[in-house]
Amino acid sequence: MNSVAAALLVWTLTSPSSSGHGREEAWPTHMACSGGGLEVFYQSCDPLQDFGLSIDQCSKQIQPNLSIRFGIILREDIRKLFLDIALVSRGSSILNYSYPICEEDLPKFSFCGRRKGEQIYYAGPINNLGIDVPQGEYQILLELYNENRATVACANATVISS
Ligand SMILES: *[C@@H]1O[C@H](CO)[C@@H](O)[C@H](O)[C@H]1NC(C)=O
Ligand SMILES: *[C@@H]1O[C@H](CO)[C@@H](O)[C@H](O)[C@H]1NC(C)=O
Ligand SMILES: *[C@@H]1O[C@H](CO)[C@@H](O)[C@H](O)[C@H]1NC(C)=O
Repeated sequence: MNSVAAALLVWTLTSPSSSGHGREEAWPTHMACSGGGLEVFYQSCDPLQDFGLSIDQCSKQIQPNLSIRFGIILREDIRKLFLDIALVSRGSSILNYSYPICEEDLPKFSFCGRRKGEQIYYAGPINNLGIDVPQGEYQILLELYNENRATVACANATVISS
């Protein structure tokens, strides 16, 4: 297990503030990767919990076989799981994208179908088209939600390509 993701996961599990009661401060900013002309920072926008994410092989030439590590405690069942991505550059919306990650008849990942309260840790590839990230700074909003439209994880990220 990647040490950063592992440390974050343990911290998420043990942090008393993750109970969320009366929480007003923002979660800390984490670095998902840095190198190869690319820096990716993210912050949980779920008031109830933080999560761990790291991207292997950081590069502004994003490979189609990109691997990530992701750890979270599920607040909801995930029989179905969807990811919404919103990409913004210099204040302008560039792209909105919705992607099914778990579907009942097409579970793409081993963690599909896990229940509320379970901890998931995924380390492996995520299929993507593979792109060269143009130079610039981007804001990305990511939201994972289940079949009842309940938030499973939410993050806002800043991507800097130099
Ligand atoms: C997340 O959004 C908050 C509020 O807009 C902002 O202050 C913060 O810099 C953002 N974090 C990242 C990593 O983009
Ligand atoms: C991904 O593909 C590239 C280019 O084909 C290769 O160099 C790299 O080792 C691959 N990475 C993984 C994790 O398979
Ligand atoms: C993305 O969605 C937001 C919020 O619904 C909307 O304001 C924006 O125009 C959309 N952007 C694109 C490129 O469709």
